[in-house]
Amino acid sequence: MKDKLIQIIKEAGEILKDGYYSKKDVTFKAKKDLVTKYDVAVENFLKERFGREFPKFNVIAEESDNTDKIFSDSIIVDPIDGTTNFVNKLPHTAISVGVYKDKKPFIGIVYNPILDELYTAVVGEGAYCNGEKIEVSDESVFQKALLSTGFPYTSGTCEDDLNDVMKKMKIILPKCQDIRRLGSAALDLCYVARGIYEGYYEMNLKAWDVSAGLIILQEAGGKVSNIDGNDYILFENKYIVASNNHIHNELIRNLNL
Ligand code: IPD
Ligand code: CA
Ligand code: CA
Repeated sequence: MKDKLIQIIKEAGEILKDGYYSKKDVTFKAKKDLVTKYDVAVENFLKERFGREFPKFNVIAEESDNTDKIFSDSIIVDPIDGTTNFVNKLPHTAISVGVYKDKKPFIGIVYNPILDELYTAVVGEGAYCNGEKIEVSDESVFQKALLSTGFPYTSGTCEDDLNDVMKKMKIILPKCQDIRRLGSAALDLCYVARGIYEGYYEMNLKAWDVSAGLIILQEAGGKVSNIDGNDYILFENKYIVASNNHIHNELIRNLNL
């Protein structure tokens, strides 16, 4: 299944790439949450091909109405993660596809066609970037940890969320090496998997933002949890916390101060 998925996702990458280099109209789904015709085009392409190739799986996808979809044997799709980057021609944007069997992680694929980076993982078989095995960093000193985070779209409308973001930043920033905000949750998780970041946390993400990246990170030796340090549950938890394992406890502790 993995090879077929890769072939289809690479084809979809051509649609993303065409859009990236074109002039595009932007529609707002919410105050800060935007969408383009390319998000819809990539999603429709993937849904059609996945439906044909993998009929036993349902497809849960960001730009679709998922109300009648039951999460079980599911392919969870973010057609363009990092849409704000995509619109602004910042090359940190990717297609994210996570495959689950009976709600359990099976295959994760994240593809950035602009930088031609393909992250893949099958549970139990390790994680790869363009075919090369990747692993998390072995840094265990929190002060030396380069972290990543994201700002929720609700930061423009919900003062509680905005305050929570700022409070956590104020506590964590002085204690770590630095914090990045590059704008694609799927790639953030892959960058932890690759040893670029030691850790990553963010609130209010949707299942399609992280369904693939969390599989890739776990297969690269990393850890993913909720803000209490317990198993992260797709579709349920407000916070995702991810790391190289070594700094996980300290990251959790600081996020809860
Ligand atoms: C967004 C990106 C971003 C994160 C947002 C996500 P989108 O996904 O992953 O990094 O901070 O919260 O919603 O909207 O570009 O698919
Ligand atoms: Ca997303
Ligand atoms: Ca998206």
